[in-house]
Amino acid sequence: MAVASAPGKLILFGEHFVVYGLPAIATAIDSRTTANVRRADEYALVDDRPETPGYKKEKLAQQKDSVQRILRAMNLAGANVRITLGGELVAASGVGASGASCSAIAAALNEEFGLRLDREKINAVAYEGEKGYHGTPSGIDNSCSTFGGFIWFEKDLMSGLGEIRSLDMKIPMTIVMGNTGVTSNTTEVVEEVRKEREKNPEKFGGIFEDYRRIAEEAREVLEMKDLNSIGRLMNRNHELLRRIGLSSPDLEKLVEIALGNGAMGAKLTGTGRGGLMIALVDDETKDKVASAMEKAGYDSKITTIGAEGVQIEKEP
Ligand code: MEV
Repeated sequence: MAVASAPGKLILFGEHFVVYGLPAIATAIDSRTTANVRRADEYALVDDRPETPGYKKEKLAQQKDSVQRILRAMNLAGANVRITLGGELVAASGVGASGASCSAIAAALNEEFGLRLDREKINAVAYEGEKGYHGTPSGIDNSCSTFGGFIWFEKDLMSGLGEIRSLDMKIPMTIVMGNTGVTSNTTEVVEEVRKEREKNPEKFGGIFEDYRRIAEEAREVLEMKDLNSIGRLMNRNHELLRRIGLSSPDLEKLVEIALGNGAMGAKLTGTGRGGLMIALVDDETKDKVASAMEKAGYDSKITTIGAEGVQIEKEP
């Protein structure tokens, strides 16, 4: 038997833009998914992860496809293994639940079958798994779960490969996540954005240019550990995402609550139209922001970011 764990992720800057080759910045969070792999008489997949109600049912067909893709990519198609998913990461839109599970499954299979794949290869397998969830993933989610920390990610549109650079961020940063409770379909939303862009190339061209400046500046202020500027840039990134129709009334409400209670910045994260909102906070504001969200009827969670990537866990 082998057990691996991988962290969830948050996109700090650049969801959707990353699909078009623009750079994005993501970070691993301190909640993880575990994959326990044991040989069995027949193949089985058991999903014991906590979830936003309805998430696992909604994603079940995609999950089955994803695991088969992972097994094929590792030359293990038809293997009789029992894969059990667990851990404390709540499966929800926006938190990289699928990327974390793909990375953890790939690492646990690698360990159990003694395949000796390095981290890059585990990431490549996890990327194949991500394709089961959304046909044309940028690869940022699985890369963040696999490598951990803070990553700067740029997809090369010609080769389809992602360039991943670790950002050297040593300051602890705290985020409050607010959950709309709505599960978004990444494939559908990415496709709708693509169609919108085809209809409005000029509007999108301008937004992409604005975003590129935000990403460059974000990298600088992250490295300078300037939290107020990071927050200000998160607000600007959210505004661009709102202009391309990715926000929702719940997300707007969560942003308003966060900023109204002292957060330095707030934005939707991941697919949008539901899923999560993230707010950058400090020790003085984190509890106030989180409890204001709870009071308004949203689940919230305080998380520190920059966690370790995928790792093998000791057998219990
Ligand atoms: C989903 O977490 C992030 C998107 O940018 C899609 C992707 O990068 O594949 C919306």
